[in-house]
Amino acid sequence: MPVSVYATATRAASAAATRIVNVLRDNPAVVVGLPTGHTPIPMYRALVRAYQAGRADFSRATTFNLDEFAGLGRDDAGSYRTFMESHLFDHVNLAPQRAHVIDGRASDWRQELERFERRIARAGGMDLIVLGIGQNGHLGFNEPADALPARSHRVALRQQSRRANATLFGGRWQDVPPYALSMGIGTILNARRTILLATGASKARIVARALTGPVTTKVPASLLQTHPNMMVVLDRDAASRL
Ligand code: GLP
Repeated sequence: MPVSVYATATRAASAAATRIVNVLRDNPAVVVGLPTGHTPIPMYRALVRAYQAGRADFSRATTFNLDEFAGLGRDDAGSYRTFMESHLFDHVNLAPQRAHVIDGRASDWRQELERFERRIARAGGMDLIVLGIGQNGHLGFNEPADALPARSHRVALRQQSRRANATLFGGRWQDVPPYALSMGIGTILNARRTILLATGASKARIVARALTGPVTTKVPASLLQTHPNMMVVLDRDAASRL
């Protein structure tokens, strides 16, 4: 699999943004899967800059976010919906009805997840998905497990994952919801192209395990090794154990 290593996290994130800009140029009606987390923030900044400079037009694009906290949604400060609005949606010409984030507040989460899967299918599947990686190897919120549900599902978050998201909740991991709704690993792997973006020394060990270790649901990101069109974008720190 192609691995590109950049000197800094910002450069790695810009490189991922450039891929998205190129894909948008080739296919303005592209369907893209998007991550949250600290890692993609500079990628979103670069996408907003590209839009402002007239180099990216999102008007016909469709996006699907990987996950959302159960119980949270629009107007909740810690929700991934709010994260996406403040980092991307509010700053580009993406049509709100085509910017899909699972509604964590839906009264019936099973129905909401079925609807989410149907929307992806109706959009023709994802052309490209950009992924971050959790320190425990999670993708979206597919946490390490003996077995992983293929389709979107509700998941109990590991304490490590709640801690990793504490900054969205005033630094208190106890305030991070204990459950999340996540795109399933099969849905992720159905995307026609995948880009894994990882930066920082804290990701070095898990990046090496995911890319060079055995394929196992105990390291969900290792399943990406089976993807036929996968690309890895790292900074030097995240690549240091490869
Ligand atoms: C979060 C998200 C993941 C993300 C990962 C890494 O919890 N659910 O989709 O890839 O953890 O986040 P970060 O970039 O902040 O390290």
